[in-house]
Amino acid sequence: KHSIYLCRHGESEHNVQGCIGGDSELSARGKEFSRALRVFLEKQKIPDLKVWTSQLRRSIQTAEELCVPYEQWKILNEIDAGICEEMTYEKIEETYPNEFILRDQDKYHYRYPGGEVSGNRNNVLRDESSGVLTRRSRVFCAIALDVLPRMMALDLRTEHLALSTERSYQDLVQRLEPVIMELERQGNVLVVCHQAVMRCLLAYFLDKSAMFLYHLNQSLSSFPADDLPYLKCPLHVVLKLTPVAYGCKVEMFDLKV
Ligand code: G3H
Repeated sequence: KHSIYLCRHGESEHNVQGCIGGDSELSARGKEFSRALRVFLEKQKIPDLKVWTSQLRRSIQTAEELCVPYEQWKILNEIDAGICEEMTYEKIEETYPNEFILRDQDKYHYRYPGGEVSGNRNNVLRDESSGVLTRRSRVFCAIALDVLPRMMALDLRTEHLALSTERSYQDLVQRLEPVIMELERQGNVLVVCHQAVMRCLLAYFLDKSAMFLYHLNQSLSSFPADDLPYLKCPLHVVLKLTPVAYGCKVEMFDLKV
């Protein structure tokens, strides 16, 4: 019997400022959470625990503190807020009032605009030192991926390219499929991720319980897309998901940091 542990990174500098997206570091309180997480895991005595993070600093820094090996998955990165990256919600409402309303109307399907619309194949350039695609390249890739069938996207686990269009919850659910497949095959895993990502993963495992209910009363076919983006996944709370006969048991641990 194995369990999947889900949590968000510790509080980041951006969380303190109320900004979304970006790649900021942990705040002092965030670091405190990492230490509390380490103590929590030690107490749980979980055999052969694997730890997965995204490739964003706040998630990696949280795992670093655990003093165990961990694996970084780019596809666990947070939803890409496009032109709204690193803004507060107030700033978004002020700068793009229409976008703000649209997102509120259909948060699951709403896709953040990605920015400029120019680019051709030659624009795909990588920063030599980091291997990261340049901004122009990302824009090009975003356009390319909008028109190419998703099957043609490069290896989701390693390529920036495939991340470029994941600016809606619906996109994210698709992007996370390989992680979910892998989680199903693995033993005990702790996933240190992000709010939107955690909501998608949680919805998938909650849906497994819903599937069972479906067979009983025929009313629930899948986790409602309208509710998914509003699932409560606060900072510094660990969810323990354990597969049971026809679904998944969910336990919640608030580390009170
Ligand atoms: O942008 C990052 C947030 O963690 C996602 O939250 O979808 O509720 O805006 P939101």
